[in-house]
Amino acid sequence: MNKTSLKKLIRPLVRGLHAYVPGEQPKIAGLIKLNTNENPFPPSPKVLAAVKAAVDGRLRLYPNPTAQPLREKLAKLHGCKPENIIVGNGSDELLALATRAFVEPKPDREIIAREFRDCFPERWTVQFFTPSYSLYPVLADIHGAEKNAVPLNSDFSLPSIAELKKGNGKPPEGGTPNGWNFAAALTFVTTPNAPGGRGYPTRELAALCKAQRGVVVLDEAYVDFAEENALKLAFEFPHVLVARTFSKAYSLCFQRVGYFVGHSDLIAALHKIRDSYNVNGLGQAAAVATLDDLKYYRANFKKIIATREWLSRELTKLGFRVFPSQTNFILVQPPLFPAEAWLLKFRERKILVRWFSAPEVENYLRITIGAPAEAAALVKAARAIL
Ligand SMILES: Cc1ncc(COP(=O)(O)O)c(C=O)c1O
Repeated sequence: MNKTSLKKLIRPLVRGLHAYVPGEQPKIAGLIKLNTNENPFPPSPKVLAAVKAAVDGRLRLYPNPTAQPLREKLAKLHGCKPENIIVGNGSDELLALATRAFVEPKPDREIIAREFRDCFPERWTVQFFTPSYSLYPVLADIHGAEKNAVPLNSDFSLPSIAELKKGNGKPPEGGTPNGWNFAAALTFVTTPNAPGGRGYPTRELAALCKAQRGVVVLDEAYVDFAEENALKLAFEFPHVLVARTFSKAYSLCFQRVGYFVGHSDLIAALHKIRDSYNVNGLGQAAAVATLDDLKYYRANFKKIIATREWLSRELTKLGFRVFPSQTNFILVQPPLFPAEAWLLKFRERKILVRWFSAPEVENYLRITIGAPAEAAALVKAARAIL
């Protein structure tokens, strides 16, 4: 089969997709890695022991298909029932499942005209603010859904409901004047925001949730570094799901464990469409052991927050514009050279940070808060570059 006929075997939608671009995982040793918001501290010794203890002949067996022991522990922690929780292969998997469960793929024009005359484009709309997690548009594209990307205010704060209603731009088909759609099938909100770092008051999120008629996912990947969390909204509003992950605050990126909390009907819908054994056994063991040692992690949050504040002050002194952050990273606008040039200059000094080419963030760098010595090395490198 030649290349052209092979290509034809791939769905046209998939042929046209641009894949999500993850941050670099370098092969070279000795780099300071501040580009993917990983935690600088290792998992607790108890977690490492639990994972090691689980590595034996049982690896031939399938893991618990619903991550039941983990869901029971999480339910206890959050004051709900296991039916209110689904665990995923990282929260990324659950964000994808939510897109598949709650959003229609956009039908062809002729099919819309023929069969969906009484249906609204909201049904195939995935909505999110920009900038926020760059995976959301990719998930919408994979699913063949319509994207509705609406800008945050320039300081990354949330537009108020009145502002969203009033509008300031061109409406999409069937949307309100600034493009915000209160009936979108699925709305993702990254809170605290990424890559901006800004934390959102629960009352603002509550107002937004109240105004939305479709499903809202509050993506709290970084919430352990923030002043507030909005978990209670998952219990107040049946159409709101809160996403959490063990990756960032709990030093478990490698194991891929995340979860959603929400109404049992929505959670049951997600369970229906997930893979039978979507959470690997060692990941489940690690996450269960993590919940038995939260004291260890809470001490680490404090250290990371202290380093974040120190680094923000030091970079400000050097002329960087630093956005206030409630996460384990900071977004900065560097002085003197374009942000992309700084990315390369840091790299020459063996420090990896993240730069995004999207126009709304192309002037900024996102810097993960590493260990104190790593943050100090970054400041030293910045001084040398200047
Ligand atoms: C906002 C946000 N949500 C979710 C995730 C995914 O986390 P996980 O490792 O649980 O898939 C990330 C990871 O970068 C993120 O930045």
